[in-house]
Amino acid sequence: MIYGAMLAGGSGTRIKSSVIPKQFIEINSQPIIIHTLKNMLKLNRFDFIYIACREDYIDYLQKQVEDNIADSHKVKIIKGGKERMDTIRNVTTAIENDNGISEDDVIVIHDAVRPFVTQKILNDSIEYATKFGACVCGLPCADTILHSINGDIVDDIPLRSELYSGQAPDSFNLKRFIEMENALTEEQKLKITGTSQICTMNHQPIYIIEGDALNFKITTDSDLELARRLLSSDIERISL
Ligand code: CTP
Repeated sequence: MIYGAMLAGGSGTRIKSSVIPKQFIEINSQPIIIHTLKNMLKLNRFDFIYIACREDYIDYLQKQVEDNIADSHKVKIIKGGKERMDTIRNVTTAIENDNGISEDDVIVIHDAVRPFVTQKILNDSIEYATKFGACVCGLPCADTILHSINGDIVDDIPLRSELYSGQAPDSFNLKRFIEMENALTEEQKLKITGTSQICTMNHQPIYIIEGDALNFKITTDSDLELARRLLSSDIERISL
């Protein structure tokens, strides 16, 4: 089975122009999360997509899915968690309870707020997770990265050719992923900023698949403005 896990349990506090969580902000009359979901379902490879969402938005999201998604029987909506890792745990638990876990199952973990994920990224991610057990989407850093501990003075400048921006999706052999989740200490869980760290913390290899600048995460108001412009243009017809 190939499962999608769409993370929608956050509040989007870095977007200052909206009081509603960013994944539910509407662009072209549909919430961002529906644009992301449509892109994932377009691939036609997912058996189910689990969306873990803030509890107070579950009814709203259910209605949006019923109204806008043809394959709505493939979409299951559950409650998100306090931290991103808790949200992921809710998805893996729900999958295990609903279907059990088989050796070859794959989970593709994606952010609800990356609506421009390409079909190539999703395909590559599934292939690598199937072949190698774990992969993360990474974009080679175009900018020089400055490392500063106090935020005033540059301490060092790491070698750019070895640096990548971690994007989503991250994909895994589901059974191995759950084993790694179980092995994390409480301290490690608090330190995690990206799903791929679950591998590095467990000293397991995770392969990089090539990201895309279009696959940006809507994080700030500038990102939101960019997403509005892209969704109002012909971009969907051109390349995704
Ligand atoms: N996320 C989640 N559960 C959480 C926290 C985050 O499912 N407890 C999801 C968000 O909904 C988002 C993705 O993880 O789709 C990426 O996280 P981020 O951009 O940090 O989202 P927020 O936590 O919502 O944003 P902010 O940090 O600005 O509050």
